[in-house]
Amino acid sequence: MNLVILGAQWGDEGKGKIVDLLSSEYEVVVRYQGGSNAGHTVMVNGQKFILHLLPTGILHSHTIGVIAQGMVVDLELLVEEIKQIEGKGISVRDRLLISDRAHLVLPYHKTLDALLEKKGKIGTTLRGIGPAYMLKYARKGIRVCDLWDKDRFYSLVRDNLEFVEELCKKVYCEAFEMKVDEVVDRALENFEEIKHCVTDTSSYLLNTKKSILFEGAQGTLLDVDIGTYPYVTSSNSSALGLSAGTGLPPKFFSGAKFLGVSKAYTTRVGEGPFPTELKDEVGDLIREKGKEYGATTGRPRRCGWLDLVALRHAVKLNGLDGIVLTKLDVLDGFEEIKVCTAYKIGNETFENFPASLFLLEKAQPIYKSFEGWKESTYGITSAEDIPEKAMNYINFIERFVGVPVVMLSTSPERDKYIWLSEVFHGKRVGSSNIC
Ligand code: IMP
Repeated sequence: MNLVILGAQWGDEGKGKIVDLLSSEYEVVVRYQGGSNAGHTVMVNGQKFILHLLPTGILHSHTIGVIAQGMVVDLELLVEEIKQIEGKGISVRDRLLISDRAHLVLPYHKTLDALLEKKGKIGTTLRGIGPAYMLKYARKGIRVCDLWDKDRFYSLVRDNLEFVEELCKKVYCEAFEMKVDEVVDRALENFEEIKHCVTDTSSYLLNTKKSILFEGAQGTLLDVDIGTYPYVTSSNSSALGLSAGTGLPPKFFSGAKFLGVSKAYTTRVGEGPFPTELKDEVGDLIREKGKEYGATTGRPRRCGWLDLVALRHAVKLNGLDGIVLTKLDVLDGFEEIKVCTAYKIGNETFENFPASLFLLEKAQPIYKSFEGWKESTYGITSAEDIPEKAMNYINFIERFVGVPVVMLSTSPERDKYIWLSEVFHGKRVGSSNIC
């Protein structure tokens, strides 16, 4: 049975560890949207890995990693990341497949990202993601397959640079200069390093008999269609992105399991509405205890209580079968813990997540309060060690969002987790500490 793992909040839910953990049972691991804006952190035997472009599951030597067509790939960073991981003794290039249809992120996309941020702040990662998708949908994108023909690649880059220069100068009154030769030569040098990995990955995925884990990046509320638009990333980072991002028919996923990863509280980086944000000492405490600083940019994350209205939105629209709850231990020792169960907007109560930014910005959370637990849950591996009050908290989440919390992750280390409920028809993946 194939497995899809998605972020159920605004990203940074701790997907990296979960994907790494569950990849031990899968043969193929796939990333299918976004690019180096992602930062999936994994701790293995005390060693820290942060993956931006490679599927996290590639850290297991038995897997085949796939960078599918929906990603936007910065070859410079990809080659750097591959070398870093290979430098730690893990082979990559003999197990990596890169879609020939994936679009490239080139230096001018990052220039444009910075310029657009200057003109209207979204708080992007400045990795060129928005502009790469922007040019893709304007049908001016450059794909990995274009690198096979040097002359064609050269003329595509030249056209792109002319377009970007015009946009910068005429629309934004900003100077722009980038040399075609430099961009082309550097891209071709990087291509040399990985060109044997390039293939039609959708055919590969369609034909393989191997088990597949699909690894979402960012989170549902950053999805360009169902997130907090325009404060979102530029791809479909929810389940909506699966088919287009992999090149597989929607039917392909009908038998798959869908798990959403959520923290026991909420964080977001960048701008945009965040109804349960705590701009006080409680928010600061969550940030410090949870080490809430961006894996890609190092930015402090905004912190707040768990927003169950938003989480239920993610459960419904992704068709989630269950939640993996992470970082519950950060709430250990709190006197009081709150969850948001509805929004008050003007005189109206909203139980569903509104589309309108105007409404979301005015949303006042309606909270349900829980008495905190005093015991530590850090690193526990047995359900019997979950304090009763923490279990009440978990049970409330399950009832509210309508699916079970199937797993609790209790520290960044690979082996610190607890399965709480059945996931795969009586079979759980990974070793089991079952309640
Ligand atoms: P972009 O994806 O770099 O264009 O950034 C758009 C928005 O998505 C910004 O608010 C970023 O902070 C956010 N974002 C992008 N990638 C991630 C991620 O991996 N984790 C959390 N937030 C992200």
